[in-house]
Amino acid sequence: SRIGVVLVAAGRGERLGAGKPKAFVELGGRTLVEHCLRTVTSLPSGGHLVIVVPEHLAGETLRLVAAAEPTGANWEVSVTPGGRERHESVKFGVDALPEYADVVLVHDAARPLTPAALFARVTAEVRRTTDAVIPALPVVDTLKRVGADSIVHETVDRAPLVAVQTPQGFPRELLAAAHDRLGTGAHDAADHPTDDAEVVQRAGGTVRTVPGESLAHKLTTPGDLALLEALLAAQNG
Ligand code: C5P
Repeated sequence: SRIGVVLVAAGRGERLGAGKPKAFVELGGRTLVEHCLRTVTSLPSGGHLVIVVPEHLAGETLRLVAAAEPTGANWEVSVTPGGRERHESVKFGVDALPEYADVVLVHDAARPLTPAALFARVTAEVRRTTDAVIPALPVVDTLKRVGADSIVHETVDRAPLVAVQTPQGFPRELLAAAHDRLGTGAHDAADHPTDDAEVVQRAGGTVRTVPGESLAHKLTTPGDLALLEALLAAQNG
């Protein structure tokens, strides 16, 4: 049955220093939003994609959607303004989804090369378990805890640790109830949830993992842009 996808693209992207919101930066001649739009609307389930953007870019986003190749017949696409923090943007997106979307995937526009197969894997596991599901990869680097003085205090055991990605999938009711519990409004930098699984964890929900994809790499710094350009070229080559 048809799913709901919330594409969060309303961040400022200051760490990238591109002079515009990260989701509107181009990679191989297309904005990150367009890359994600094409992938999501290729999914055979069909459903509703809501793209959450800075208010002043809503018009431009609607033009990008209209100019995209005709989306899969089963897909509707809408655009809605975001909030100050990521979790607020997600809540506004979920609120904009039609009733029929009983499974919701939340995806960062900052992960433009995420393969359709990962969206399908997450969706299938949500349907199988009715729990929250997130993609995860093992941590490969050695991890150390460092003090404000930049001196190493200890090495952290990485065996039980994973790095998590998006899309993160949820039964809609679970996600909506968890966000209602959290409420909107500012949280301390140290206290605001950085992903949706954390919002569900705080509400006592179970969060499961499925294998992630290196192609779901997140664009954060200028170095990531070069890496993603190379991954894209390798795909097209
Ligand atoms: O800043 P960060 O890279 O963690 O943002 C992750 C994703 O959340 C990005 O796609 C960004 O556009 C989105 N976001 C949002 N609304 C905010 C903050 C971030 O949609 N207020």
